[in-house]
Amino acid sequence: MAEKIKPNLKKARKRTKNAIETTEYHFNPAYEALGNGRTYFIETHGCQANEADTERLRGLLEKAGFSEGKKVETSDVVIINTCAVRKTAENKVFGEIGRLKGFKRKHDDMILAIGGCMPQEENVTRRLTEEFDQVDIVFGTHNLHRFLDLLARKLHGDDQVVEVMSKEGNLVEEVPAARESRFKAWVDIMHGCDEFCTYCIVPYTRGRERSRKPEYIKKEVQDLIDRGYKEVTLLGQNVNSYGLDFKDTDYGFADLLRDLSKTAIPRIRFTTSHPKDFTDDIIEVLATGGNLMPYIHLPVQSGSDRVLKRMNRKYTKHHYLDRVRKIKTSIPGVSISTDIIVGFPGETEADFEDTMELVETVGFEGAFTFIYSPREGTPAATYPDTVTREEKKLRLMRLNKVVAADSLKGNKRFEGETVSVLVEGPSKTNKDKLTGYTPYHKRVNFTGDEKLIGQIVDVHITEAKTWSLDGVADEAND
Ligand code: SAH
Ligand code: SF4
Ligand code: F3S
Repeated sequence: MAEKIKPNLKKARKRTKNAIETTEYHFNPAYEALGNGRTYFIETHGCQANEADTERLRGLLEKAGFSEGKKVETSDVVIINTCAVRKTAENKVFGEIGRLKGFKRKHDDMILAIGGCMPQEENVTRRLTEEFDQVDIVFGTHNLHRFLDLLARKLHGDDQVVEVMSKEGNLVEEVPAARESRFKAWVDIMHGCDEFCTYCIVPYTRGRERSRKPEYIKKEVQDLIDRGYKEVTLLGQNVNSYGLDFKDTDYGFADLLRDLSKTAIPRIRFTTSHPKDFTDDIIEVLATGGNLMPYIHLPVQSGSDRVLKRMNRKYTKHHYLDRVRKIKTSIPGVSISTDIIVGFPGETEADFEDTMELVETVGFEGAFTFIYSPREGTPAATYPDTVTREEKKLRLMRLNKVVAADSLKGNKRFEGETVSVLVEGPSKTNKDKLTGYTPYHKRVNFTGDEKLIGQIVDVHITEAKTWSLDGVADEAND
C-alpha cells in the first residue's frame, strides 16, 4: 500500500545536502523475454519531466522485449504517465481510466498501469486502488526504474500491484532511454523541487531537489553527440539552483552550462528557470552565445508583490524586471517567455493590473497562462478564494489578448530574415510542409525537401503568424 504523504513544510524545506546517494541501474537478465512479442503504449501528460520519464519507461520496456504499439486499444501494456499540477489534468486521466473500464471488460489481458505524479498523492492512490479495479499497476515518480519488477509481478499473476514511495530514495543513473526524437533529447540535470510555491503540488509529487552529478550529465550528453543528436534541453523544476545540494563543491548551473558549451552538441536549451536564482554568473555564460540558445523561459506567475509574497516566490516585481533588463542587455535579441497564474486566492483587480503592466513592460514572446487550481495539501488551497470563476475567466482572456499581440510582435521581427531551423519532420497541421524550431524557440512551418529532416538548415521567413513563422528552405541547403 502507498506510504502516507505528509506535507511538513518546515522540515521539508531544509536542504538535504547530498544525503542522497547515486546508484546505477542494472537490468535483470531474467526480464529479457518478458515482452515476448507484446506491445506497449504510453500516454504522457504534464511537463517535460514526465516526457523524460516516459523515455526511460520506453527504454526499460524495449530492453525487456516489448515493442511500441500504435494506440491504446491495440496494445498489451498501457501506461498513463500522469500530471497532478491542475485539477483539469487529473480529470482527464480519471476520464480516460473510466473509458478504459468498458474496453478492458472485453480485453481483460490488457495491462493498465498508472504512473507519474498523480499516484504520489495519497488520495489519488487510495481512489485508484479502491474504486478502479481495471487498473493493474500503480507506481509513482520515485520508483519508475522498478517498473519492470512491478510488471513482472502482474504478468506472473498478481492482482493489483501498487508501489508508491513517499521518500525520494537514491538517484538512479543508467536507466535505459528510448528517445522520442532522433535529433533532440531531454536531459534531466536534477529531480524534485525545494521551492514550495504555495499553489504548487510538484514538491510533493517529485520530492526534494536532487542534482545529478556533472559527470553523469556530461556522459549522457557525449553519448547523444556520438549518436548524432543536434539539441539537448537540460531539465529541472528550477535549473538555476542546480548543484546547491552538493556537499563538497560549489559547482553550479553556470559551471555546467560552461562545460557543456564546450562540447560538440550544436544546441543547448534549458528549462525551467527561477527569477530568484537567475544570477549574473549564469547570464554571463549565456552571453557567450555559441551553442547556448538565446531563449529563456522565466516564469513570473504574477506582477503583484503582494501576490508574489503569498505565492512564496521569494522575489519582487522590481527584481524580476531587473533580471529581464540584464538578460536583454547581455544576450542580444534574446527571446523570453513566461508562466502566469490568474485568480490566485485574494488576487484583486489592482493585483491583476500589476501583472498586466509587467507583461506590457517585458513584451514576452510567449506565455503559458493558467487559472489558479487549488491543490489539496498545498498552503494556498486553504487561503480564502474571493475571486469568482467569471472574473478569473475574464482576467485570463484580457491577459491572453496581450500575450497573443506580443507574440505576433516578437515573430514579426523575423519576417524577411533567414533563420536557422532544426528540422523535426512533417508539420502536424500541413503534411506538405516541414517544421522545426529556431534558436529563439520559434516554430517555423516551411516548404523544403524531406531529406532536410534532422539537419539544422537556413529558412527564409515569408510570414509571421501569432504562434509560428512560415517560410521556405533556402536553396543553398539542397
Ligand atoms: N518548475 C516549473 C514548472 C512548474 S509547473 C516552474 O517553476 O515554473 C508549470 C506551471 O504551472 C507553473 O509555472 C505555474 O504557472 C503553473 N501552476 C503550478 N501550480 C498551479 C496551480 N495550482 N494552479 C494553476 N497553475 C499552476
Ligand atoms: Fe512548483 Fe514553484 Fe517548484 Fe516550480 S518552482 S515546481 S512552481 S514549487
Ligand atoms: Fe505535472 Fe508532475 Fe510535471 S505534476 S507539471 S508532470 S512534475
